[in-house]
Amino acid sequence: MAAAPAATFAIGTTGSLGQRGSSLPQSKSFGLKFNSLNHLKSFCGLKAMSSVRCESESSFFGNKTGAALRASFASKAQKENNHNSQPQASYKVAVLGAAGGIGQPLSLLIKMSPLVSNLHLYDIANVKGVAADISHCNTPSQVRDFTGASELPNCLKDVNVVVIPAGVPRKPGMTRDDLFNINAGIVRDLVSAVADYCPDAFVQIISNPVNSTVPIAAEVLKQKGVYDPKKLFGVTTLDVVRANTFVAQRKNLKLIDVDVPVVGGHAGITILPLLSKTRPSASFTDEEIDELTVRIQNAGTEVVEAKAGTGSATLSMAYAAARFVESSLRALDGDGDVYECSFVESNLTDLPFFASRVKLGRTGVEALIPSDLQGLTDYEQKALEALKPELKASIEKGIAFAQKQTVAA
Ligand SMILES: NC(=O)c1ccc[n+]([C@@H]2O[C@H](COP(=O)([O-])OP(=O)(O)OC[C@H]3O[C@@H](n4cnc5c(N)ncnc54)[C@H](O)[C@@H]3O)[C@@H](O)[C@H]2O)c1
Repeated sequence: MAAAPAATFAIGTTGSLGQRGSSLPQSKSFGLKFNSLNHLKSFCGLKAMSSVRCESESSFFGNKTGAALRASFASKAQKENNHNSQPQASYKVAVLGAAGGIGQPLSLLIKMSPLVSNLHLYDIANVKGVAADISHCNTPSQVRDFTGASELPNCLKDVNVVVIPAGVPRKPGMTRDDLFNINAGIVRDLVSAVADYCPDAFVQIISNPVNSTVPIAAEVLKQKGVYDPKKLFGVTTLDVVRANTFVAQRKNLKLIDVDVPVVGGHAGITILPLLSKTRPSASFTDEEIDELTVRIQNAGTEVVEAKAGTGSATLSMAYAAARFVESSLRALDGDGDVYECSFVESNLTDLPFFASRVKLGRTGVEALIPSDLQGLTDYEQKALEALKPELKASIEKGIAFAQKQTVAA
C-alpha cells in the first residue's frame, strides 16, 4: 500500500515572534502528518525558538535593517499561504558515521523530515542493515547505504546537507582533547571528500572536539579552495537543548516555551549558557546560576558516567542534531525565520570561531546575532573572558593540525 502523508503531527516546528503574541506570522509547522487528529498534537518536536530583536542583527554582508527583516517575515507569510503548509521533499542529506550511536537515531529522525528526498548513510562499518531498517519507514525519502571510502564520492554527490557524527566517543576519564588525534584525522578526510564532491553543501560537524574539528574543517576547505564560512557549522544544539530542559525543570516553566542561548564553544567551561537571556524571562539566585551553568557545562560527563564505559550522549545528541538539520532544511527551503545557536566563523568576539545564535538562510549563516552578548551579567562577562584562552587554544590546535597536513588539492 502506498504511504500517503496525512495531516496533523508536526515533528519539526520553529517558534516565531508570532508565538510571543506579536502580530508577526506564526511559524509554519512541518511535519510528518499522522492520521490521528489529536494524537501528539502538543508534541513540540524539533523546535527551535527564534524570537530575536530585528534591529540587533549583524551579518556577513553588514547590518540588516528591521525593515528588511520585516519584509522577510512578510514573504514567509506569503510562502506559507502558497505552500498551504505542505513542504516538498526535495533535499539530499548525507550522514557520515551513520552506523554509530548517534548516526543511527539521527538517521531515523532525518528520515522523518518531510523536506528530505534522499538520505545517504555512510560509514566505514557496515551500514547496510541500518539503511534497510530505516528505509522501511513510510516517509518520503529514499535511503541508500554507502560503506567504505570507495563509496564516499557517490554518497556525497549533489548532497545539500552533510552531517558528520563519525569518530570515537568519549569514554570515562577521557577529555574531549583526548579524542583529538583520532577524530581530527577522520574529520579532515571526510571534509576533504566533501570539498571534492559537494562543495556547496552545508557541513555540520558533530565529531568532538568541536572546538577544534570545525577549525580543521575550515582549513581543509580553504586548502581545497571551496571554503564558505556561512556553510560550516559546529553542532552545539545539544547544549541549548540541555539548557532549556534544566532551566525549565528548575524554574518550573513550560518546557516548550523555554529558550536559553548558549555561546562560546562546546567543551567544559567554553560552554556558556546565558541564563540572563532566558525566555520567558526568569530570575535566578546566584546559587542557581552557578549550579545550572556547571550542570549544563558538564552534562556530557553526566551521560558518559551513567553509561559506564559504553559511550557518550547519543540519543539526546541525535535529537539535537536532527533539530539543527531540520532548521537548516527549512532555511534552505526559504523560511526567513530560522535561528539556531552554532559554533561558526565569527567576528562577535576576538576569537575566529565562536558559538552564538545565528540566522540561517538559503546561503547558510545569514547573520550572527550580537544582542545575546550585550548587557551580560558580571557572572556571564567573567565566564566569557575566562573561556576565551581555552577556546582560543582549541581553535589554534585544530588550525595547526590541518596546516601541517596539507590535503591533496
Ligand atoms: N557535538 C556534540 O554535542 C556531541 C555529543 C555527543 C557526542 N559527540 C561526538 O560524536 C562522535 C560520534 O559519537 P558516537 O557515540 O556516535 O560514536 P560511535 O563510535 O557509536 O559511532 C561513530 C561511528 O563513526 C564511524 N566512523 C569512524 N571513522 C569513520 C570514518 N573515517 N568515516 C565514516 N565513519 C566513521 C564508526 O564506524 C561508527 O559507526 C564522537 O566524536 C563524539 O564525541 C558530539
